[in-house]
Amino acid sequence: MNFQNIVFKVEDRKALIAINRPDVLNALNAQTMDELESAIEAIENDESTGVVVVTGVGEKAFVAGADINELQILDGPNGKGFAQRGQNIFKRLEDLSKPIIAAINGYALGGGCELALACHIRIASENASLGQPEVNLGVIPGYGGTQRLPRVVGSSMALQMILTGQVIDANEALRIGLVNRVVPPDELIPTVDKLAQTILSRGPVAVRQALNAVKYGVQVSLSEGLGIEANLFGDVCKTADKTEGTTAFLEKRKPEFKNK
Ligand code: COA
Repeated sequence: MNFQNIVFKVEDRKALIAINRPDVLNALNAQTMDELESAIEAIENDESTGVVVVTGVGEKAFVAGADINELQILDGPNGKGFAQRGQNIFKRLEDLSKPIIAAINGYALGGGCELALACHIRIASENASLGQPEVNLGVIPGYGGTQRLPRVVGSSMALQMILTGQVIDANEALRIGLVNRVVPPDELIPTVDKLAQTILSRGPVAVRQALNAVKYGVQVSLSEGLGIEANLFGDVCKTADKTEGTTAFLEKRKPEFKNK
């Protein structure tokens, strides 16, 4: 695959997607969204990938939003399609059966904050800032921000951010639970890599099904969620990795998981 606007590589079971338009603070234009979708498709088709890291190229921005040059020329019917296309791509990312870690290395605004919200775990550098400033442009978040942000930080805080366009720094994002951890800029990628390695060292089927249990469980009632958990627990009990993990513990050795 030949990408211009993203960097995409897979090494040692870890996929990296880095939005690569640093001159415009990694703003998401149509071509970037197409390339992002192709990368997601490649990850979907690659069973060996166990974790995905999403970040931005450069020191200044994760993603500073949808490309405002493209936003400016949207009309009503195009606008709806524009939002749906972005929503579908981010949903496809969120639905990947591997953990996705956002390494937020600077501005994560508008579509950038929404991209981070579609990731499962968010780690930010101290210079990160996050927000949904769309109302400043006379639009609203259209790539899932009005839906995912309140699910992560609660509707009152989400409304404060979305209705004012307030941009918050990394420590405020940590305080409200929008990011899991804040680290100095030069520690961001090492921290995320270490987290990725920890996940990769665990039972791959168990990681996948635990992710599914949380991801689908939070969308339904507690009773339904418990049903999902019990079914998935039953599924993992059938795996060779479960036999290996429990046996290795009892034999006081490291498990050798086979992703089966
Ligand atoms: N779409 C298109 N271009 C963008 C962009 C976006 N979302 N965000 C930044 N850029 C471009 C700027 O136009 C500028 O291009 P230029 O060098 O050709 O003038 C370049 O990126 C650098 O941005 P600049 O504004 O000069 O950097 P800054 O450090 O002064 O400010 C921001 C950084 C993030 C505060 C500012 O760029 C900004 O407010 N961006 C828009 C954020 C936004 O509203 N996002 C939601 C979109 S829905």
